Amino acid sequence: MSDSNEHELLIKTPKQLIVAVVAAFVVPIFIIVLLANYVSTGNKPGAGSNAQAPESVAERIKPVGQIEFVDANAPKVLKAGMDVYNQSCGACHNAGAAGAPKFGDKGQWSARLSQGFDTLVKHAVGGYKAMPAKGGNADLDDIEVARAVAYMGKEVGANFKEPEAPAPAAAPEAAK
Ligand code: HEC
Repeated sequence: MSDSNEHELLIKTPKQLIVAVVAAFVVPIFIIVLLANYVSTGNKPGAGSNAQAPESVAERIKPVGQIEFVDANAPKVLKAGMDVYNQSCGACHNAGAAGAPKFGDKGQWSARLSQGFDTLVKHAVGGYKAMPAKGGNADLDDIEVARAVAYMGKEVGANFKEPEAPAPAAAPEAAK
């Protein structure tokens, strides 16, 4: 071994020198690219908050109002008299608010009952003095109101029967 070879050199040929120089450039650049990629892509939560999480963003930018589409052709399921009463009539008729005849109070109902079911229904559907039309719930079907009237009447001894739902309209015939 000669003196000049005392220290083993890694780079001995020009070719090795070129490889070393290229690697010295390429490797850091490769690492920088990977880092830049890591920083700029994907969803990394901001420190201490998840304000940028997809759910949080969706929550912030969601529309103020939402429209629900109801199939107008779907047959409406008519509620029973008791349900209608509890929902739309009890507010006044439970306690007799605003001079409403009290639920189950025969004395307050007897004179009204003598008008007959149809008149009572007419008054309940169309409104009567302080009694708002359909109890103020315009969504109610006339039949639902009539059922509520029957429910109230039965409670004070009237022989009312909750009307049935009408037969569903015949399906339109297929075009010929
Ligand atoms: C905002 C209060 C209020 C609500 C809600 C209400 N009523 Fe009445 N109702 C009254 C008042 C007040 C009267 C008495 C009106 C009068 O004779 O002066 C009355 C009277 C009636 C009468 C007797 C009408 C007559 O000819 O004597 C019927 C039947 C009746 N209501 C049914 C209903 C039904 C069914 C509902 C629910 C769909 C309902 N009411 C909801 C206040 C209300």
